[in-house]
Amino acid sequence: MTVTDTQGVDWAALEAAAVAAMGKAYAPYSKFPVGAAALTEDGRIVSGCNVENASYGLTLCAECALVGDLHMGGGGRLRAFYCVDAKGNVLMPCGRCRQLLYEFRAPGMQLMTTQGIKTMDQVLPDAFGPDNLEENR
Ligand code: THU
Repeated sequence: MTVTDTQGVDWAALEAAAVAAMGKAYAPYSKFPVGAAALTEDGRIVSGCNVENASYGLTLCAECALVGDLHMGGGGRLRAFYCVDAKGNVLMPCGRCRQLLYEFRAPGMQLMTTQGIKTMDQVLPDAFGPDNLEENR
């Protein structure tokens, strides 16, 4: 099931920001540049690219840089997300990055996926999150 109500999100602007971020990727090992962009609740666009490392396992996904950008720009929550590969095609965030995005989701956060627009809850169902930590305190 996809979401048809895009809640006024300018998906083309997010796509353009993701493609621009992808152009800054440091991916000499995988040769798989990735760019990600997101719209914040207060209307900013934040973005990030993947940054690899000679110690391969230390690679930072594009979403890592995006959440850093979110915080460096004042924090807040993410309303909509778009991720692209080298060809500009929509890329699904990896499992770890779905968790990263979940932490900073606005209610009803949407993601452009290979199957159309979906909600955060659809791409990371039954998620572990901050609320679980509160339950056991
Ligand atoms: N990558 C991302 O940046 N985000 C994802 O959600 C999936 C994977 C990067 C990590 C690595 O630099 C390259 O794609 C190949 O796995």
